[in-house]
Amino acid sequence: MSSEWFQRDVKMYGATQWLLVDHVSKIPSAGDWFTYEFGSNSIIVVRNKEGEINAFYNVCRHRGSILCAEGSAGKTKTLTCAYHSWSYDLDGNLRPPRSMPEDFDKKANGLVRCHIRVYDGLIFINLAKGNPPDFDVLIGDLKPFLDLHELQNAKVAYSKKWIIDANWKLNVENFLECYHCRAAHPTYTAVHDAMKLLSFGAGAGSSDKAVTNSFEARMKEWEAETNAKGIFTGIVVDGVDSDFFRAAARIPIKDGYKSETRDGTPGSTLMGKFREFDGGQTGVSFNATATIIANNDFALMFRYTPIDTLKTELVVSWIVHKDAVEGQDYDVEKISAVWAITLDEDKTITQNNQKGIQSTAYQPGVYSTQEQRIADFTQWYINRLERFESETAADNTILIAKH
Ligand code: FES
Ligand code: FE
Repeated sequence: MSSEWFQRDVKMYGATQWLLVDHVSKIPSAGDWFTYEFGSNSIIVVRNKEGEINAFYNVCRHRGSILCAEGSAGKTKTLTCAYHSWSYDLDGNLRPPRSMPEDFDKKANGLVRCHIRVYDGLIFINLAKGNPPDFDVLIGDLKPFLDLHELQNAKVAYSKKWIIDANWKLNVENFLECYHCRAAHPTYTAVHDAMKLLSFGAGAGSSDKAVTNSFEARMKEWEAETNAKGIFTGIVVDGVDSDFFRAAARIPIKDGYKSETRDGTPGSTLMGKFREFDGGQTGVSFNATATIIANNDFALMFRYTPIDTLKTELVVSWIVHKDAVEGQDYDVEKISAVWAITLDEDKTITQNNQKGIQSTAYQPGVYSTQEQRIADFTQWYINRLERFESETAADNTILIAKH
């Protein structure tokens, strides 16, 4: 893949998707900030004095230096540029700089805002130059799944980062299928029902209809049980022409398993609306690179970020109830074990996949019935890119016509 293609990828993706960047508990008080990098852009996410969360492009309005080191975090009263000391408050307003001409307009030189939305404690940004995609449409069908878990009343207990030497789309493809699970993931397959993995291994829409039917009876039975407890169930799967390629579902883990721990026993205190365990797991994908997997007692936040053509960052955060106490209510090793092991394995197989497809002998193979979501993703990607580039081309034509 060329770097020109990579630039097209990140431009389209950053402008059309709401990127899940972190959980609000990472910046709990005024002045707390972190940066997030996507493509050529670095964004500062900062909490202001009123407790609201702002996002600004990490670019000084004087001569363009970055203000905060990339990939860093901290606490501050002002965002100050180290180059010539221009300084901005937590709402991006410029304080009077030294030695500027009399007619200098301080108000016109605040930091450039980045589109931001916060929902249920999750922080999303979007890099569109004009209007961002409709956030209400993104969240609409996903609301009942998210609201069950009340992630706004939660905190990050632990985060882990993987740098994977493979293109971001290859990472996404691996995440969208569980055909590889039996061969690659002994720990994960021991924790999940085998028939469930065939049908819903990588969540809603990951297998074709014929395979999904084999789990239908058990799924219906479990849904009736959990609905009787007043707990919501459902499935959402976006198609190849959708804006966001979302998916959501509530699916049982395995008979006798309350949570996604190695032995199925609870990993923390109940979260959200749960008053008892229902043995279900909620998966919510906001797009191909941002997913929440929520058990009754703890949740995981997955964030894939393209770094360059052959490098991808994955950050996973484990989230527990805000009042849960480490060592008493939860144990990091216990809640993180299944996925920490699984994602180490995924790193190896994805890197091996990347090496193989760079061979001159590589030709795309035939997908199994458990890789339906990959076929859908590749088609979605082509459709979305074409749509974005034709819209952008139309905008450019208007600009040229105006001049
Ligand atoms: Fe920031 Fe000059 S570039 S103060
Ligand atoms: Fe995997």
